[in-house]
Amino acid sequence: MTPKTGPFPRPPARAIPRLMTQRLTIRRPDDWHLHLRDGAMLKAVLPQTVAHFSRAIIMPNLVPPVVTMADAMAYRERILAAAPGVGLFEPLMTLYLTEDTDPEDVAAAHGSGLVKAVKLYPAGATTNSASGVRDFDKVRPVLEKMAEIGMPLCVHGEVTTPEVDIFDREAVFIDTVLDPLRRATPGLRVVMEHITTADAVAYLQDGNDDLGATITTHHLMINRNHMLVGGIRPHYYCLPIVKREKHREALVDLATSGFSRCFLGTDSAPHLATDKQSPCGCAGVFSAPVTMSCLAEVFEEAGALDKLESFASLNGPAFYRLPANEATITLAKGEPAGVPPQIETENGPVVVFDPGRPLHWHVEDEL
Ligand code: DOR
Ligand code: ZN
Repeated sequence: MTPKTGPFPRPPARAIPRLMTQRLTIRRPDDWHLHLRDGAMLKAVLPQTVAHFSRAIIMPNLVPPVVTMADAMAYRERILAAAPGVGLFEPLMTLYLTEDTDPEDVAAAHGSGLVKAVKLYPAGATTNSASGVRDFDKVRPVLEKMAEIGMPLCVHGEVTTPEVDIFDREAVFIDTVLDPLRRATPGLRVVMEHITTADAVAYLQDGNDDLGATITTHHLMINRNHMLVGGIRPHYYCLPIVKREKHREALVDLATSGFSRCFLGTDSAPHLATDKQSPCGCAGVFSAPVTMSCLAEVFEEAGALDKLESFASLNGPAFYRLPANEATITLAKGEPAGVPPQIETENGPVVVFDPGRPLHWHVEDEL
């Protein structure tokens, strides 16, 4: 059984003049955290992002990971070759930080203009993170170089210590890793990726202009009850894991407030349905095809449709010191439309995120 609106009563949306709610034109959005994978999966999922988004920060957790500037250049070419049209989409590349990363290679990658950030995975934190960082002293020279050149560090903010409960991993990371790391490296620009807790919201709000955060589509819409009550839903399993309702509400409040250092990073992370519906299912929610419909729903419910453009299209470029897109998209409201339950790849289907509630908005002018 899929809950219609979840177990929690939702407040009525603030009244907005009817005409304004029917159609909304905003600058074309970007996705500041996206997994595209490679090969057959890349070919299948990339058009879903290109349909609505101009640019995306591309996660480097391939097997093997995208570690050097040369790796990133080669991966970028594979993405451009798989794109459905020339010039429609700009992949913003990242490097996977390892204990062997060379600061000079990072600086050269940044200088190319094609690599926009370095990704920190604590070793063992999530999918394909085995090459991540164990000893933070070993990456100090890279972090210092990044602070010097103004290159952002995208952080998967969870400790991996087995003793720490999975629901506490983000809060413990902030206190024991992130805050000391930022204090030790003044000027380092950090994106707290896919934040999931009120603790992360508070830390972000306390931070200076060098600190930003992304929020995913699914963390704005589901809590841990949606994943676990009435049956276990493997397609809601992701990392960081979804938390209590009060944390979801804190995320919605932040995103819909227009807070400038918070922006959309879908963390759309496709896995084959068979890899998720398994006794040890993979973490990841594939949300790219429905993200804009979902966000419009969330922002409308919060009476904040006027803040959707900041979250999806303006705040991200501002943090990354890039211009906002000139092009626009138009969202239209109508009868709830069925979302495609899955997309096909050469190796089998990938299930699309279903928030368990009707979606009234769709992108009218998708590519
Ligand atoms: O749910 C997740 N899936 N979280 C991550 O951090 C990685 C991602 C993936 O690559 O599948
Ligand atoms: Zn991710």
